[in-house]
Amino acid sequence: MTTREFKLLVNGRAQTVTTSPDRPLVEVLREELNLTGTKVGCMEGQCGACTILLDNEPVLSCLMTVSDVGNRSIRTIEGLADGEHLHPVQEAFLKEQAFQCGQCTPGMILETVALLRKKPRPSDQEIAASLDGHLCRCCGYPRIISAVHRAAQRLESGGVS
Ligand code: FES
Ligand code: FES
Repeated sequence: MTTREFKLLVNGRAQTVTTSPDRPLVEVLREELNLTGTKVGCMEGQCGACTILLDNEPVLSCLMTVSDVGNRSIRTIEGLADGEHLHPVQEAFLKEQAFQCGQCTPGMILETVALLRKKPRPSDQEIAASLDGHLCRCCGYPRIISAVHRAAQRLESGGVS
């Protein structure tokens, strides 16, 4: 199989990976860069578990190949906290206990970061629409919606984004 070298900007760090151009990005993140916070679910674009941010836009990393990334900047769940300080969205999910097994959580959190950047005070309906592509098999939706509202309040009062 042909391999190529790819230069990726991941969580603010330049990384070089040599791999097949058609390898799914989620696999490269997890297996080459050891960023296992990005979860694998369906590998078919149906569950949202593999969501990452690409130039601040949420994308499904199971549907992208490493060669699709180009020079766009990748942010994964590992890149959200500021040292010991959790990102306000992470903190809100924790405070509201908005997860059980955690499989959907990194994707939900990154989607929420992107949503709140565009809509600082979303309604319940806007939150539900934004998280529509994310399956939570533990059915934590009410707490997840509360966490998004909590994060919105925190960011409005001066948290980082
Ligand atoms: S693993 Fe990507 S959408 Fe399910
Ligand atoms: S917390 Fe288990 S799938 Fe959402």
